[in-house]
Amino acid sequence: MKIMMIASECNPYVKIGGMADVVGALSQTLARMGHEVYLVMPRYRSIDGAKFGIRPFHSPMKVWMGNTEEYCAVHSAEDDAGVRLFFIEYENYFGRDGIYHDSDFNDYSDNARRFSFLSNAALKLCKDKGIKPDVVHVHDWQSSPAAAYLKSWYGNDPVLGNTASILTIHNMAHQGVYDAGDYDYTGLGWSNFTSDKFEDHGRMNFLKGGIAFADMVNTVSRKYAWETSFTEAGCGLQPFLRAKGADYGGILNGADYREWDPAVDKYIPENYDSENVRGKEICKKELQKKFHLERESSVPVFGMVSRFVDQKGVDILAGAIEGIVQTMKAQFVVLGSGDKGLEYYFGDLPGRYPGRIGSFIGYNNELAHQIQAGCDFLLMPSRFEPCGLNQIYSMKYGTLPVVRATGGLDDTVSQYDESQGSGTGFKFLDISSRALYYTVGWAVSTYYDRPAHMKSMIGEAMKKDFCWEKSAKEYLGLYERAVKKKVG
Ligand code: ADP
Ligand code: GLC
Repeated sequence: MKIMMIASECNPYVKIGGMADVVGALSQTLARMGHEVYLVMPRYRSIDGAKFGIRPFHSPMKVWMGNTEEYCAVHSAEDDAGVRLFFIEYENYFGRDGIYHDSDFNDYSDNARRFSFLSNAALKLCKDKGIKPDVVHVHDWQSSPAAAYLKSWYGNDPVLGNTASILTIHNMAHQGVYDAGDYDYTGLGWSNFTSDKFEDHGRMNFLKGGIAFADMVNTVSRKYAWETSFTEAGCGLQPFLRAKGADYGGILNGADYREWDPAVDKYIPENYDSENVRGKEICKKELQKKFHLERESSVPVFGMVSRFVDQKGVDILAGAIEGIVQTMKAQFVVLGSGDKGLEYYFGDLPGRYPGRIGSFIGYNNELAHQIQAGCDFLLMPSRFEPCGLNQIYSMKYGTLPVVRATGGLDDTVSQYDESQGSGTGFKFLDISSRALYYTVGWAVSTYYDRPAHMKSMIGEAMKKDFCWEKSAKEYLGLYERAVKKKVG
């Protein structure tokens, strides 16, 4: 198949969260399976052209927006898997340090323009270069408008008229809702500014429009597909998702085991696998050293790697962590950034609990790998979680996840069964520090009192296989259905 991804992030070029991992790994897996994969994304200032062999491809490219024309350039590269990448260079929109917001986490005021432009430019590139994808796969609100351009602008087009669209929703909480003042610029047409398409309480909602126009819509776990259809997790769009019927479902993310496998991980001090986990002890020792924790191998270490946002329940951990270290013999390592209050709180904790709590405020991929390898448990007390990648990675590292039973966390982690010594982690339901406190207590007591259970759970977790090939096959099924729906 000929597949074009349009996305605002893609690993390894630029990454804010898990969407980048998914776009990168899914594209590469599909390419390795023999499909023709194109990926269009912005050329942000931070992308190192020399490192990735990015070269000029098409310039100038004229893109008509609703009420003006813009001129940009397109650069191109090819990765090892054979994915053909196109980077849209437009200084006004992408030549800045941040991706979605400035250094104070204020959203850029022109995001509606930036990403409707990206969506439209990707399709214009197809037109200019005669690229005829069978499907265009868009991700989240940022590239959602492409699904609408395809149907409204290019419905009868000789190049794009038969191209079907798939929208993957990675996070319902971000819908791209903007003032209707920019709607003219998008050129999506006032006839589409209706309450079943782009209009949302007088404003425009990119994700809502994408849901209406895409031939198929999916999210990244079955549980989250259900939650978003029937509960407040749908953030107001439940009826529109339900209206899609069988055209909305869940496909679980995979893990890129080329990057996230302790047997080959190049960032950790010692490699190990499920046959021989001795290297994990060395990783734990080194982690304790790095974070100035007491160097005891017999104390459980809990880790957290997260964006500091409401979704992730970092504040829930903040409400529990001091009680835990005051009453249990356990250590913590926290890596993340975002909310300033939480950054201050966790940045300060190691000084208040020396040897017991370590933290690093910021984004650091190498540390993320070392935490996965060196900890005994990984915390994800998320309020909601469409899929979650960290718990999938952590199981491979024999680091048992302690998670709230929501969305993809519930789908991927199996609950510890104390009567059998089976399971891959510890789950709780209540959104509260109290629930987290007791669940961490359960993990701590298992660590000290039931070492045989720990061993069997670690074995079970490390053998779990969330390889991308499985998920990619499900996506191919979705693409085929979308094409059928589009061209019959
Ligand atoms: P989300 O996309 O909602 O942030 P996921 O669990 O799907 O959650 O993906 C998070 C990804 O971002 C993981 O690969 C994780 O390792 C990475 N990550 C998050 N915060 C940091 C950080 N501070 N430093 C390094 N990597 C991080
Ligand atoms: C979003 C979600 C996360 C998911 C990721 C990739 O960022 O918050 O749960 O794993 O997208 O799909």
